[in-house]
Amino acid sequence: MRPILLDCDTGIDDAVALTYLACLHRQGTINLAAVTTTAGNTTAAQAAMNSRFVLDQCSLVDVPVAAGCTEPLQVPLVTTPETHGPLGVGYAEHSVDLPPAQPGEWMRLWDEAIHEHEDLHLIVTGPATNLATYMQQRDQLPTHITLMGGAYLYPGNTTPTAEWNSWVDPHAAQVAFKHTPTPITVCSLEVTEQMVITPDDLPLLPEFLHPMLRFYFEFHQAQGEGYQAQIHDLLTCMVALGTVPYQAIPVTVDVETTSQLLRGTTVADFKNHWGRPHNARLVRDADVKAAKRELVGVVKQLL
Ligand code: BDR
Ligand code: CA
Repeated sequence: MRPILLDCDTGIDDAVALTYLACLHRQGTINLAAVTTTAGNTTAAQAAMNSRFVLDQCSLVDVPVAAGCTEPLQVPLVTTPETHGPLGVGYAEHSVDLPPAQPGEWMRLWDEAIHEHEDLHLIVTGPATNLATYMQQRDQLPTHITLMGGAYLYPGNTTPTAEWNSWVDPHAAQVAFKHTPTPITVCSLEVTEQMVITPDDLPLLPEFLHPMLRFYFEFHQAQGEGYQAQIHDLLTCMVALGTVPYQAIPVTVDVETTSQLLRGTTVADFKNHWGRPHNARLVRDADVKAAKRELVGVVKQLL
């Protein structure tokens, strides 16, 4: 059972990703050690309630959830209700009311997971705020890190050059790439935008996801992307677990933090101009048809 720690900002595509991980946990393929949340799509506290809701729907009441950092490292928090709905889960309604996280609780969950599991895999599907904060305060890190974020030689979804997670907390993304002891596997927009769910897929997915996905379809349609939804964070989890075929190349990544115009722009040094060691494995291609088959096959246990 592969030990997994998920750090997310649930968020509709985070919710689909979490459903997938929850099903793998139920069937004994992974050990979902804990879920922690960042502020991004919504507040960290709301993302924790949304994550608890998803886990409860999957009957995983024992997997711990804790809200993490409430603000980006250096810039004010911006959330995106227009993308993910007023509470981050589209048209879904739930009455989960988690008690406020104890101070440092999320960090204790990371400490425990790292100490208990030598080969822990951290998957970050929100801004890198918790990851950067942890790196600044602890020496020991998870053995493997996979992150959804950035847009490399590709248009951003938040500004002309920046992807949302990197834009929300550019300083955190910069710290993460600067201090990681091991190359971070990066799933960025040019690949994750290809992972699309359409209305035809709904009958094959658990009902609690439908009101979320309907909202997400409408958002994407309003953006000119068609009545469908890009499920970035799910593909990221599949890459992390190796449950989808993909190709990655070693690169050195840095993130723009000083310019307002280019805030959160991610740069990969493909030709080693900087002469710095590789700090990332950039996913260049993934088999999204296989990813769809994998999702449907795994979540059918909830239908
Ligand atoms: C990322 O931003 C969020 O809106 C999604 O949950 C995903 O993690 C895509 O840019
Ligand atoms: Ca996310």
